Amino acid sequence: LPLDNPTRTFNLTAKPKTLAIAGQQAEVLTYNGSFPGPLLEVQEGNVVRVDFTNQLREQSNLHLHGIFMSPEEDKPHQTVEPGESLSYTFEAAEGSAGLYWYHPHAHGKVTRQLFKGLAGPIIIRGAVDALEPLASATEKVLVLHDISLQHGKVAPHAGMDWGKGKEGDLVLVNGAQQPEMTALTGLLRLRVVNASSARYYNLNIPGKQLQVIGLDGGFLEAPLAMETLLLTPGERTDILVEATKAEELQLLNLPYSRTPAGPSTDTPEAGKTLAKFTITGEAKEIVLPAKLTAIPELDLATATAHKAITFGAIMQPLQFTINGKAFDHHRTDLTAKAGTLEVWDIVNPMMMDHPFHLHTFPFQVVSINGVPAPFRAWKDVVNVPANSTVRIAIPFHKYTGKVMYHCHILEHEDYGMMGNLEVI
Ligand code: C2O
Ligand code: CU
Ligand code: CU
Repeated sequence: LPLDNPTRTFNLTAKPKTLAIAGQQAEVLTYNGSFPGPLLEVQEGNVVRVDFTNQLREQSNLHLHGIFMSPEEDKPHQTVEPGESLSYTFEAAEGSAGLYWYHPHAHGKVTRQLFKGLAGPIIIRGAVDALEPLASATEKVLVLHDISLQHGKVAPHAGMDWGKGKEGDLVLVNGAQQPEMTALTGLLRLRVVNASSARYYNLNIPGKQLQVIGLDGGFLEAPLAMETLLLTPGERTDILVEATKAEELQLLNLPYSRTPAGPSTDTPEAGKTLAKFTITGEAKEIVLPAKLTAIPELDLATATAHKAITFGAIMQPLQFTINGKAFDHHRTDLTAKAGTLEVWDIVNPMMMDHPFHLHTFPFQVVSINGVPAPFRAWKDVVNVPANSTVRIAIPFHKYTGKVMYHCHILEHEDYGMMGNLEVI
């Protein structure tokens, strides 16, 4: 589609604001006064500029999570002082239609700022969205974010929270507890982002299959029927639900333990209803889309490098590490050559899960503990279960520069579980 004005500009201002949350007044952190931040919606082909202003009382910055963009524009190392501004520009690439999100990335301050509310969704639309049956689906964007409030403020992290990752006792969807939404019979399209700093969500809708059509920043080749879908911090999913008749649906979060061998992190909210949907209207026949996109099969025989990324921790004082080292902003940990394919083993010898995230370059999961991945997808976050190894394949193309990789349990990231990769 030819577009008259392919440049889209957005302003995002981070600032504290007192809002009513789950029936309490509390000061949280917002973008433009809203929690979660506003949806930024663009089309493939648009040049997108986000002008960020920091009106917090401390340093911050903005990261456009999952966007295929130049590392020079991602610039997560660059912090923004209170009162200052910084712009981030990218071109929404052909084939990048999907769900993304934004959050702060000032190392050491990320998890607190995010836990207090700083996160918002981004949608890039493309040709697939414009075709039936997707075009007439009822779409809901659901930002999952948990929080704890205390005396009108967001509760502080305590010692243990840094090790496990803090889970708030209020589990919110778009800033509300168990929101009730309505939709007409037909396809219900749920676009879900896990914007929690540590909480995992094990999604389920009793009586329905989750017809998964997208993961992270892209479509799958065809809908994939699942009973439950685990969404770890940073991950996104695009789910179709066949709402054939007037009925009530509940989106649940089923229990999942991210420390299977250690102390349980299951919290009482697990198993609770995240959101309710009232479907009204005439009974309807529903046709799922047959094919959504094509995802190339990567030829691993052409990979020019094989790397291992091993998670670890050092006690007293607590630090989380990758390949034995805590993050140092000045150190280049790995290099890769532009135009090549690499295979990485993400090795987790620990007793807890860690979601691995790489900036700029989407990857495909090859195998988990040697078992081939059951389907192809472009991902930017992958859960690495406790005592497991996940093999991924990354084509480094188009961009050069320094990108970060880290655990997306942001307590771990702030405490060092992050590295720098230079693509040359
Ligand atoms: Cu969502 Cu480096 O982050
Ligand atoms: Cu990111
Ligand atoms: Cu971690």
